[in-house]
Amino acid sequence: MSAQAPAAIFDQDAVRRAVDTALTDFLGLQCREAHRRGLPTQAAQALSSFLESGGKRIRPILCVAGWQAAGGTDTPAAVLKVAASLEMFHAFALIHDDIIDASDTRRGQPTVHRRISTEAAILIGDLALVFADELLHGAGLTSDQLRAALPIANTLHADTIYGQYLDISHTGRPPANAEQVLAITRYKTAKYTIEGPLLLGAALAGADPAVYSTLSAYGIPVGEAFQLRDDLLGVFGNPDDTGKAALDDLREGKATVLMALALHHATPAQHHALRRHVGNPHLSHADADQVRSILTDTGAHAAVEEMITQRRRSALTTLDTASLPPHITAALRSVAFSATRRTT
Ligand code: IPE
Ligand code: IPE
Ligand code: MG
Ligand code: MG
Repeated sequence: MSAQAPAAIFDQDAVRRAVDTALTDFLGLQCREAHRRGLPTQAAQALSSFLESGGKRIRPILCVAGWQAAGGTDTPAAVLKVAASLEMFHAFALIHDDIIDASDTRRGQPTVHRRISTEAAILIGDLALVFADELLHGAGLTSDQLRAALPIANTLHADTIYGQYLDISHTGRPPANAEQVLAITRYKTAKYTIEGPLLLGAALAGADPAVYSTLSAYGIPVGEAFQLRDDLLGVFGNPDDTGKAALDDLREGKATVLMALALHHATPAQHHALRRHVGNPHLSHADADQVRSILTDTGAHAAVEEMITQRRRSALTTLDTASLPPHITAALRSVAFSATRRTT
Protein backbone atom coordinates (compact mmCIF):
# COMPACT_ATOMS: atom_id res chain seq x y z
CA MET A 1 0.00 0.00 0.00
CA SER A 2 1.54 3.31 -1.02
CA ALA A 3 1.39 6.19 1.45
CA GLN A 4 -0.72 9.06 0.17
CA ALA A 5 1.04 12.43 -0.15
CA PRO A 6 -0.33 14.85 2.44
CA ALA A 7 -2.67 17.46 0.97
CA ALA A 8 -0.84 20.73 0.37
CA ILE A 9 -1.82 23.63 2.57
CA PHE A 10 -1.04 27.29 2.17
CA ASP A 11 0.17 28.61 5.50
CA GLN A 12 -0.25 32.40 5.42
CA ASP A 13 1.40 32.86 8.82
CA ALA A 14 4.46 30.94 7.71
CA VAL A 15 4.79 33.17 4.63
CA ARG A 16 4.40 36.25 6.82
CA ARG A 17 7.16 35.08 9.14
CA ALA A 18 9.48 34.12 6.29
CA VAL A 19 8.99 37.50 4.60
CA ASP A 20 9.68 39.30 7.86
CA THR A 21 12.91 37.36 8.24
CA ALA A 22 13.92 38.19 4.65
CA LEU A 23 13.22 41.89 5.29
CA THR A 24 15.09 41.91 8.62
CA ASP A 25 18.09 40.15 7.07
CA PHE A 26 18.14 42.51 4.12
CA LEU A 27 17.90 45.67 6.22
CA GLY A 28 20.45 44.37 8.73
CA LEU A 29 22.86 43.91 5.85
CA GLN A 30 22.12 47.41 4.53
CA CYS A 31 22.71 48.96 7.97
CA ARG A 32 26.02 47.14 8.39
CA GLU A 33 27.09 48.12 4.90
CA ALA A 34 26.19 51.78 5.49
CA HIS A 35 28.11 51.70 8.78
CA ARG A 36 31.16 50.08 7.15
CA ARG A 37 31.17 52.81 4.50
CA GLY A 38 30.80 55.61 7.03
CA LEU A 39 27.28 56.47 5.84
CA PRO A 40 24.31 57.34 8.08
CA THR A 41 22.51 54.21 9.27
CA GLN A 42 19.45 56.09 10.57
CA ALA A 43 17.52 55.91 7.30
CA ALA A 44 17.69 52.12 7.02
CA GLN A 45 17.02 51.83 10.75
CA ALA A 46 13.91 54.02 10.48
CA LEU A 47 12.72 51.86 7.61
CA SER A 48 13.31 48.78 9.71
CA SER A 49 11.23 50.22 12.57
CA PHE A 50 8.47 51.13 10.12
CA LEU A 51 8.37 47.60 8.74
CA GLU A 52 8.36 46.13 12.24
CA SER A 53 5.51 48.42 13.35
CA GLY A 54 2.85 46.20 11.76
CA GLY A 55 1.13 45.52 8.46
CA LYS A 56 -0.90 42.60 7.22
CA ARG A 57 1.70 41.52 4.58
CA ILE A 58 -1.09 40.79 2.11
CA ARG A 59 1.06 41.60 -0.94
CA PRO A 60 3.88 39.14 -0.22
CA ILE A 61 1.35 36.48 0.78
CA LEU A 62 -0.41 36.88 -2.57
CA CYS A 63 2.88 36.81 -4.46
CA VAL A 64 3.69 33.42 -2.96
CA ALA A 65 0.10 32.30 -3.61
CA GLY A 66 0.52 33.35 -7.28
CA TRP A 67 3.70 31.30 -7.51
CA GLN A 68 1.94 28.21 -6.20
CA ALA A 69 -1.19 28.94 -8.27
CA ALA A 70 0.97 28.54 -11.38
CA GLY A 71 2.46 25.26 -10.19
CA GLY A 72 5.42 26.48 -8.12
CA THR A 73 6.14 24.36 -5.06
CA ASP A 74 7.15 25.48 -1.56
CA THR A 75 8.57 28.97 -1.24
CA PRO A 76 12.10 29.18 -2.67
CA ALA A 77 14.37 31.94 -1.33
CA ALA A 78 14.24 33.80 -4.65
CA VAL A 79 10.42 33.92 -4.60
CA LEU A 80 10.51 35.07 -1.00
CA LYS A 81 12.80 37.97 -1.93
CA VAL A 82 10.47 39.05 -4.71
CA ALA A 83 7.60 38.85 -2.21
CA ALA A 84 9.65 40.92 0.27
CA SER A 85 10.34 43.47 -2.45
CA LEU A 86 6.58 44.08 -2.69
CA GLU A 87 6.41 44.83 1.04
CA MET A 88 9.36 47.19 0.65
CA PHE A 89 7.60 48.94 -2.24
CA HIS A 90 4.48 49.19 -0.06
CA ALA A 91 6.58 50.83 2.70
CA PHE A 92 7.73 53.42 0.15
CA ALA A 93 4.12 54.01 -0.96
CA LEU A 94 2.81 54.40 2.60
CA ILE A 95 5.59 56.67 3.87
CA HIS A 96 5.10 59.04 0.94
CA ASP A 97 1.30 58.68 1.05
CA ASP A 98 1.29 59.86 4.65
CA ILE A 99 3.24 62.98 3.69
CA ILE A 100 0.90 63.62 0.76
CA ASP A 101 -2.20 63.10 2.93
CA ALA A 102 -0.78 64.96 5.96
CA SER A 103 -1.55 61.92 8.10
CA ASP A 104 -0.23 61.86 11.66
CA THR A 105 -0.75 58.21 12.47
CA ARG A 106 -0.03 54.93 10.68
CA ARG A 107 -0.12 51.44 12.17
CA GLY A 108 -0.96 53.00 15.53
CA GLN A 109 2.26 55.05 15.61
CA PRO A 110 3.25 58.55 14.54
CA THR A 111 3.96 58.60 10.80
CA VAL A 112 7.59 58.75 9.71
CA HIS A 113 7.40 62.45 8.76
CA ARG A 114 5.90 63.29 12.17
CA ARG A 115 8.43 61.14 14.04
CA ILE A 116 11.49 62.47 12.18
CA SER A 117 10.86 65.17 9.56
CA THR A 118 9.23 65.52 6.16
CA GLU A 119 12.64 65.81 4.50
CA ALA A 120 13.84 62.62 6.16
CA ALA A 121 10.59 60.78 5.36
CA ILE A 122 10.92 61.66 1.67
CA LEU A 123 14.42 60.18 1.66
CA ILE A 124 13.46 57.13 3.74
CA GLY A 125 10.61 56.48 1.30
CA ASP A 126 13.03 56.87 -1.61
CA LEU A 127 15.39 54.42 0.04
CA ALA A 128 12.54 51.91 0.38
CA LEU A 129 11.87 52.23 -3.35
CA VAL A 130 15.54 51.66 -4.17
CA PHE A 131 15.67 48.70 -1.78
CA ALA A 132 12.53 47.21 -3.36
CA ASP A 133 14.37 47.25 -6.65
CA GLU A 134 17.48 45.74 -5.10
CA LEU A 135 15.48 42.91 -3.50
CA LEU A 136 13.88 42.16 -6.85
CA HIS A 137 17.03 42.31 -8.94
CA GLY A 138 19.16 40.58 -6.32
CA ALA A 139 16.65 37.79 -5.72
CA GLY A 140 18.64 35.33 -7.81
CA LEU A 141 15.97 34.80 -10.47
CA THR A 142 16.77 32.93 -13.67
CA SER A 143 16.81 34.94 -16.89
CA ASP A 144 13.46 33.42 -17.89
CA GLN A 145 11.95 34.45 -14.58
CA LEU A 146 13.34 37.97 -14.90
CA ARG A 147 12.02 38.29 -18.43
CA ALA A 148 8.53 37.29 -17.28
CA ALA A 149 8.51 39.21 -13.98
CA LEU A 150 10.07 42.58 -14.80
CA PRO A 151 7.31 43.96 -17.06
CA ILE A 152 4.76 43.02 -14.38
CA ALA A 153 6.80 44.61 -11.59
CA ASN A 154 7.39 47.75 -13.68
CA THR A 155 3.69 48.13 -14.45
CA LEU A 156 2.75 47.53 -10.83
CA HIS A 157 5.20 50.20 -9.64
CA ALA A 158 4.25 52.80 -12.25
CA ASP A 159 0.49 52.21 -11.96
CA THR A 160 0.60 52.82 -8.20
CA ILE A 161 2.31 56.15 -8.72
CA TYR A 162 -0.05 57.12 -11.55
CA GLY A 163 -2.92 56.17 -9.26
CA GLN A 164 -1.56 58.34 -6.47
CA TYR A 165 -1.18 61.16 -8.98
CA LEU A 166 -4.80 60.76 -10.05
CA ASP A 167 -5.75 60.71 -6.36
CA ILE A 168 -4.05 64.04 -5.59
CA SER A 169 -5.57 65.54 -8.71
CA HIS A 170 -9.04 64.88 -7.27
CA THR A 171 -8.48 65.30 -3.54
CA GLY A 172 -9.95 68.49 -2.10
CA ARG A 173 -11.60 69.31 -5.46
CA PRO A 174 -15.23 69.05 -6.45
CA PRO A 175 -15.59 65.29 -6.50
CA ALA A 176 -15.53 63.12 -9.56
CA ASN A 177 -18.37 60.66 -10.12
CA ALA A 178 -18.24 57.21 -8.52
CA GLU A 179 -16.99 55.55 -11.71
CA GLN A 180 -14.06 57.98 -12.00
CA VAL A 181 -13.14 57.49 -8.35
CA LEU A 182 -13.29 53.73 -8.81
CA ALA A 183 -10.77 54.05 -11.63
CA ILE A 184 -8.40 55.94 -9.30
CA THR A 185 -8.87 53.21 -6.73
CA ARG A 186 -7.98 50.57 -9.30
CA TYR A 187 -4.66 52.25 -10.02
CA LYS A 188 -3.61 53.50 -6.61
CA THR A 189 -4.49 50.34 -4.68
CA ALA A 190 -6.14 47.42 -6.44
CA LYS A 191 -3.36 46.60 -8.85
CA TYR A 192 -0.41 46.73 -6.47
CA THR A 193 -2.27 45.13 -3.58
CA ILE A 194 -4.00 42.11 -5.05
CA GLU A 195 -3.76 41.54 -8.80
CA GLY A 196 -0.13 42.63 -9.32
CA PRO A 197 1.38 40.48 -6.52
CA LEU A 198 -0.55 37.42 -7.77
CA LEU A 199 0.60 37.96 -11.36
CA LEU A 200 4.17 38.59 -10.29
CA GLY A 201 4.32 35.33 -8.34
CA ALA A 202 2.66 33.46 -11.20
CA ALA A 203 5.18 34.88 -13.69
CA LEU A 204 8.03 33.40 -11.64
CA ALA A 205 6.51 29.96 -12.14
CA GLY A 206 6.05 30.46 -15.90
CA ALA A 207 2.26 30.66 -15.71
CA ASP A 208 0.19 30.01 -18.78
CA PRO A 209 -2.35 32.62 -20.00
CA ALA A 210 -5.31 30.85 -18.38
CA VAL A 211 -3.75 31.21 -14.92
CA TYR A 212 -3.02 34.90 -15.50
CA SER A 213 -6.58 35.57 -16.57
CA THR A 214 -8.02 33.70 -13.58
CA LEU A 215 -5.78 35.65 -11.21
CA SER A 216 -6.80 38.96 -12.80
CA ALA A 217 -10.49 38.05 -12.78
CA TYR A 218 -10.10 37.32 -9.06
CA GLY A 219 -7.65 40.10 -8.21
CA ILE A 220 -9.29 43.15 -9.75
CA PRO A 221 -12.61 42.91 -7.88
CA VAL A 222 -10.91 41.93 -4.60
CA GLY A 223 -8.50 44.85 -5.03
CA GLU A 224 -11.32 47.31 -5.61
CA ALA A 225 -13.22 45.90 -2.65
CA PHE A 226 -10.07 46.20 -0.52
CA GLN A 227 -9.89 49.96 -1.15
CA LEU A 228 -13.67 50.39 -0.80
CA ARG A 229 -13.33 48.75 2.63
CA ASP A 230 -10.35 51.03 3.39
CA ASP A 231 -12.52 54.05 2.55
CA LEU A 232 -15.30 52.85 4.86
CA LEU A 233 -12.77 52.16 7.64
CA GLY A 234 -11.26 55.61 7.08
CA VAL A 235 -14.58 57.20 8.09
CA PHE A 236 -16.42 54.61 10.20
CA GLY A 237 -13.53 52.47 11.49
CA ASN A 238 -12.13 52.32 14.99
CA PRO A 239 -8.71 54.05 15.08
CA ASP A 240 -7.52 51.46 17.63
CA ASP A 241 -8.04 48.81 14.97
CA THR A 242 -7.07 50.71 11.81
CA GLY A 243 -4.01 52.36 13.35
CA LYS A 244 -5.03 55.53 11.49
CA ALA A 245 -6.67 58.70 12.82
CA ALA A 246 -10.48 58.78 12.56
CA LEU A 247 -10.69 62.23 10.95
CA ASP A 248 -7.83 61.98 8.42
CA ASP A 249 -9.82 61.03 5.33
CA LEU A 250 -12.52 63.64 5.98
CA ARG A 251 -10.07 66.42 6.80
CA GLU A 252 -8.04 65.56 3.71
CA GLY A 253 -11.14 65.58 1.51
CA LYS A 254 -10.09 62.24 0.09
CA ALA A 255 -11.83 61.34 -3.16
CA THR A 256 -13.75 58.16 -2.39
CA VAL A 257 -16.59 56.28 -4.01
CA LEU A 258 -18.40 56.65 -0.67
CA MET A 259 -18.27 60.43 -0.88
CA ALA A 260 -19.09 60.56 -4.60
CA LEU A 261 -22.25 58.49 -3.99
CA ALA A 262 -23.26 60.56 -0.99
CA LEU A 263 -22.95 63.81 -2.95
CA HIS A 264 -24.91 62.33 -5.81
CA HIS A 265 -27.83 61.36 -3.57
CA ALA A 266 -27.68 64.26 -1.08
CA THR A 267 -30.48 66.78 -0.57
CA PRO A 268 -29.39 70.40 -1.09
CA ALA A 269 -28.90 70.82 2.67
CA GLN A 270 -26.86 67.61 2.96
CA HIS A 271 -24.84 68.62 -0.10
CA HIS A 272 -24.06 71.95 1.50
CA ALA A 273 -22.97 70.31 4.77
CA LEU A 274 -20.71 67.83 2.96
CA ARG A 275 -19.09 70.58 0.91
CA ARG A 276 -18.52 72.64 4.07
CA HIS A 277 -17.03 69.85 6.20
CA VAL A 278 -15.19 67.50 3.85
CA GLY A 279 -11.69 68.82 3.16
CA ASN A 280 -11.77 71.14 6.19
CA PRO A 281 -8.44 70.55 7.94
CA HIS A 282 -10.00 71.76 11.23
CA LEU A 283 -13.04 69.48 11.07
CA SER A 284 -14.34 68.75 14.58
CA HIS A 285 -15.58 65.42 15.92
CA ALA A 286 -19.15 66.80 15.92
CA ASP A 287 -18.81 67.82 12.25
CA ALA A 288 -17.47 64.36 11.46
CA ASP A 289 -20.50 62.79 13.17
CA GLN A 290 -22.77 64.92 10.98
CA VAL A 291 -20.89 63.75 7.86
CA ARG A 292 -21.20 60.11 8.98
CA SER A 293 -24.95 60.53 9.42
CA ILE A 294 -25.25 61.98 5.93
CA LEU A 295 -23.18 59.13 4.48
CA THR A 296 -25.60 56.71 6.10
CA ASP A 297 -28.84 58.62 5.41
CA THR A 298 -28.08 59.09 1.71
CA GLY A 299 -27.61 55.32 1.39
CA ALA A 300 -23.96 55.77 0.35
CA HIS A 301 -22.61 53.62 3.20
CA ALA A 302 -24.96 50.75 2.35
CA ALA A 303 -24.26 51.12 -1.38
CA VAL A 304 -20.51 50.78 -0.82
CA GLU A 305 -21.09 47.71 1.36
CA GLU A 306 -23.13 46.28 -1.51
CA MET A 307 -20.34 47.05 -4.01
CA ILE A 308 -17.90 45.20 -1.75
CA THR A 309 -20.23 42.20 -1.51
CA GLN A 310 -20.73 42.09 -5.28
CA ARG A 311 -16.98 42.18 -5.90
CA ARG A 312 -16.29 39.46 -3.36
CA ARG A 313 -19.01 37.32 -4.92
CA SER A 314 -17.54 37.81 -8.38
CA ALA A 315 -14.07 36.81 -7.14
CA LEU A 316 -15.45 33.71 -5.40
CA THR A 317 -17.32 32.70 -8.57
CA THR A 318 -14.07 33.00 -10.51
CA LEU A 319 -12.38 30.67 -8.04
CA ASP A 320 -15.26 28.18 -8.22
CA THR A 321 -15.10 27.98 -11.99
CA ALA A 322 -11.30 27.95 -12.35
CA SER A 323 -9.03 25.01 -11.70
CA LEU A 324 -6.28 26.38 -9.50
CA PRO A 325 -4.61 23.94 -7.08
CA PRO A 326 -7.13 23.27 -4.27
CA HIS A 327 -4.92 24.66 -1.49
CA ILE A 328 -4.56 27.94 -3.43
CA THR A 329 -8.28 28.13 -4.15
CA ALA A 330 -8.84 27.76 -0.39
CA ALA A 331 -6.23 30.42 0.44
CA LEU A 332 -7.65 32.89 -2.11
CA ARG A 333 -11.16 32.30 -0.78
CA SER A 334 -9.94 33.16 2.67
CA VAL A 335 -8.15 36.30 1.39
CA ALA A 336 -11.32 37.38 -0.47
CA PHE A 337 -13.06 37.45 2.92
CA SER A 338 -10.24 38.82 5.07
CA ALA A 339 -9.39 41.62 2.60
CA THR A 340 -12.97 42.81 2.29
CA ARG A 341 -14.41 42.22 5.77
CA ARG A 342 -11.40 43.44 7.68
CA THR A 343 -11.42 45.96 10.53
CA THR A 344 -7.69 46.77 10.27
C1 IPE B 1 -3.00 50.41 3.21
O1 IPE B 1 -2.62 49.12 2.85
C2 IPE B 1 -2.97 51.31 2.03
C3 IPE B 1 -3.86 50.94 0.94
C4 IPE B 1 -3.40 50.58 -0.21
C5 IPE B 1 -5.30 51.01 1.11
P1 IPE B 1 -2.74 47.91 3.89
O2 IPE B 1 -4.12 47.90 4.46
O3 IPE B 1 -2.27 46.67 3.22
O4 IPE B 1 -1.71 48.34 5.02
P2 IPE B 1 -0.87 47.47 6.06
O5 IPE B 1 0.36 47.05 5.34
O6 IPE B 1 -1.69 46.30 6.50
O7 IPE B 1 -0.55 48.43 7.16
C1 IPE C 1 -2.92 54.56 -0.06
O1 IPE C 1 -4.05 55.20 -0.31
C2 IPE C 1 -2.45 54.04 -1.40
C3 IPE C 1 -1.02 53.92 -1.47
C4 IPE C 1 -0.24 53.97 -0.44
C5 IPE C 1 -0.45 53.72 -2.79
P1 IPE C 1 -4.88 55.93 0.84
O2 IPE C 1 -4.32 57.26 1.16
O3 IPE C 1 -6.27 55.85 0.35
O4 IPE C 1 -4.74 54.90 2.02
P2 IPE C 1 -4.57 55.10 3.57
O5 IPE C 1 -5.96 55.23 4.08
O6 IPE C 1 -3.73 56.30 3.81
O7 IPE C 1 -3.93 53.82 4.05
MG1 MG D 1 -3.45 58.02 2.94
MG1 MG E 1 -3.61 58.74 -0.12
